[in-house]
Amino acid sequence: SVFLYGTLSLVVVFSIHILSQLVCPFFFLQVYKVKILIFISYISTLKVVPRDPNQPKLVFSWVPFLGNGVEFGMNPIGFIQKCQKLYGDVFTFKLVGKSVTVCLGADGNQFVFNNKQNLSSAAEAYNDMTKHVFGFDVVYDAPHSVFMEQKRFIKAGLTLESFRAHVPLIVKETTEFFKDFKKPTGYMDAYSTFSKLIICTASRCLMGKEIRSALHEGVADLYYDLDQGFQPINFMFPNLPLPSYRRRDVAREKMAELYSKIIRRRKEENDTSNNDLLQALIESTYKDGTPIPDHHIAGMMIAVLFGGQHTSATTSAWTTLELANRPDLVQALREEQIAKLGSLKADLTFENLKELTLMEACIKETLRLHPPIFQMMRKVIADKVVFEKTGHEIPKNDFLCAVPGATQVDEQYFNEPLTYNPYRWIEKSDPVHQMEVGEDANADYGFGIVGISSRSPFLPFGAGRHRCIGEQFGYLQLKAVMATVIRLYDLSLEEGKGVPESDYTSMVVVPKHPANVVYTCRE
Ligand code: HEM
Repeated sequence: SVFLYGTLSLVVVFSIHILSQLVCPFFFLQVYKVKILIFISYISTLKVVPRDPNQPKLVFSWVPFLGNGVEFGMNPIGFIQKCQKLYGDVFTFKLVGKSVTVCLGADGNQFVFNNKQNLSSAAEAYNDMTKHVFGFDVVYDAPHSVFMEQKRFIKAGLTLESFRAHVPLIVKETTEFFKDFKKPTGYMDAYSTFSKLIICTASRCLMGKEIRSALHEGVADLYYDLDQGFQPINFMFPNLPLPSYRRRDVAREKMAELYSKIIRRRKEENDTSNNDLLQALIESTYKDGTPIPDHHIAGMMIAVLFGGQHTSATTSAWTTLELANRPDLVQALREEQIAKLGSLKADLTFENLKELTLMEACIKETLRLHPPIFQMMRKVIADKVVFEKTGHEIPKNDFLCAVPGATQVDEQYFNEPLTYNPYRWIEKSDPVHQMEVGEDANADYGFGIVGISSRSPFLPFGAGRHRCIGEQFGYLQLKAVMATVIRLYDLSLEEGKGVPESDYTSMVVVPKHPANVVYTCRE
């Protein structure tokens, strides 16, 4: 019936078009007529053609091709919550020519994150964009088993020993960074401030001292150009003949050359003294014994920088904004440091940061309310996949979409879900803590045991085979930065302003501008 209706509507549209050409001599009018006819035919197709009843309901949209893109782009969580009320936990919407099937709730998370590799693929969803930034033969551009090996190398490079060395470096970078704030009190834009800080801390700990010292001699510009190739437009249109796309390609090549030079020098001079991720990758070999080629190492390093930079920058910005709104919490965090570490002057270390449970709860609460990556996609590569819980069939080429950003503010799982309340993680009285989520079977995908259930509604680091491997480093970095910031400054928001709304127009969710924090030096 779909075929019949489609053919019939085409015949009708073309007959009317030919008739209109005969009747109307003005070309532009004909163009308008054709557009109107296509639009009418599009709407009537949506309204009249019966959709396969096994497939999820299709969200209505007035706009061909763009679909629900504008509404989703402006407020994705609001859009998804609205659709959930209308269609339930599983529905499909159109996003700039793509069909996206959203699977909500704990079961939706489990379905998307636990889907078998031969049924749906993250690489098919992301690689068109990421290969131009990370480079070729790494991450999603490598065969899946090779990518899992690459994840194992990175994970193995993030050892407890390296974490111990990282904490003083992060504290030093943070203290030095804020020395540039000459005035005893003033405004800082939360996101841009913490982006600048995190690129220093992350590159110092992970990229190596060579990259850190070259940061202000061109590396930051290369990073900026690469970043311009990592925007939502690149997800929609991975390769356009535009200057920003060309600059992205040049920056990637220069970055790879830079890494090759550093790797060569370290190898030639037999310099094994560096306790960073780069050194760990230089010393690793693939399962078959081959050393990792330099361009793979460079690609992995760029991927790690992108995996960790924006996510940690926006999380520290949101935490600062939330704390600026809650002086009582800042006070409690300082008291925690005095009680657990002895004073606000005690050195921060990997060991004593573990004792700062309220600080950790604050970061966790930020990740619940403001997850940097609120939705994750996979592309269906089998003829169809079946969501057993509801019986829905999702056809080949559709995108599956898990949205932890929605489950994390669902009152089914969290009490007063929109309130910033870090104590919920200490008291454990929310419904999420009473849920039995179990552990995923077969939880080693090639990069070590993944000790978490993908059925959990709280998944700011994802789950399953694509789960984040930077979680521990992320928490460590965020705790060290925030513990230092509250020692240095009293924080508040501008008079009459609250915590800003979310801006969804970049790849991670950032605070809407202006997002100023008033800082006042404590010494
Ligand atoms: C994957 C979030 C920090 C490296 C992921 C995913 C999420 C995430 C949600 C899953 C993506 C998906 O399933 O499609 C975060 C957050 C961070 C953070 C919120 C900090 C607050 C880091 C850091 C690193 C890193 C510091 C590097 C050391 C990675 C890698 C993956 C990943 C390599 C694997 C991607 C895959 O297998 O497809 N991260 N991340 N992340 N993250 Fe992170």
